[in-house]
Amino acid sequence: MLKKYFDNSLYLFKLFIGSKIRLKLIVNREILEEKMLLESVKKRFSVRKFKEKEIEKEKLNALLKAAQLAPSARNIQPWKFVVVNDKEKRKKLTDICKGQKFVSQAPATIVLCANNTDYTMTCGQKAYTIDSAIAGEHIALQATEMGLGSCWIGAFYHDKMADLINLPDDYKIVGLLPIGYPDVEKKKRSLKPIEEIVSYNSF
Ligand SMILES: Cc1cc2nc3c(=O)[nH]c(=O)nc-3n(C[C@H](O)[C@H](O)[C@H](O)COP(=O)(O)O)c2cc1C
Repeated sequence: MLKKYFDNSLYLFKLFIGSKIRLKLIVNREILEEKMLLESVKKRFSVRKFKEKEIEKEKLNALLKAAQLAPSARNIQPWKFVVVNDKEKRKKLTDICKGQKFVSQAPATIVLCANNTDYTMTCGQKAYTIDSAIAGEHIALQATEMGLGSCWIGAFYHDKMADLINLPDDYKIVGLLPIGYPDVEKKKRSLKPIEEIVSYNSF
């Protein structure tokens, strides 16, 4: 009787220790994964010089998958991602982007398009620009993770770009992301100190 009681207690004790170790491992893994994302965030920089090397289809698909997984207000997913990798179309990107030659140099440029442009959230912000920007940054970070580089492009003539990709009237282009293998190293850039950009509970 006493032995049975002892065996049961030992069993429960082992179960308890086992679950604690498992929990600790899970927590450690989560912290590690968080750090891994932060590492990618730290690695990312605006790439303005690309190698001629093509982007592998699997990598391009991974970029688009990352975009597909982005959150969007009301889950509207207003986006359409147009990949410009045709040689003749690429040549025209320099002019469309106000002379920024590196955009034509990139083997692919992802054009962030969105509809539902009338939808304004309660906070007063247009959802489509925010949704598209989040999807775009998913792309940028996934690119970094796979050894690719990108650069956000806001300096482009909207209507010329719309013509190039046959954009329907109910869509707008939020930004462009030329992507390719970087032919340049990351340089240190100045960041505002964290105390200046963060506060708790009150502005
Ligand atoms: C919305 C947006 C638009 C931008 N437009 C351009 C652009 O047209 N051309 C360019 O060279 N860089 C552009 N950039 C890149 C910024 O200059 C760059 O992100 C900033 O200087 C910080 O440098 P980093 O990206 O290397 O960290 C843009 C960035 C954002 C977020």
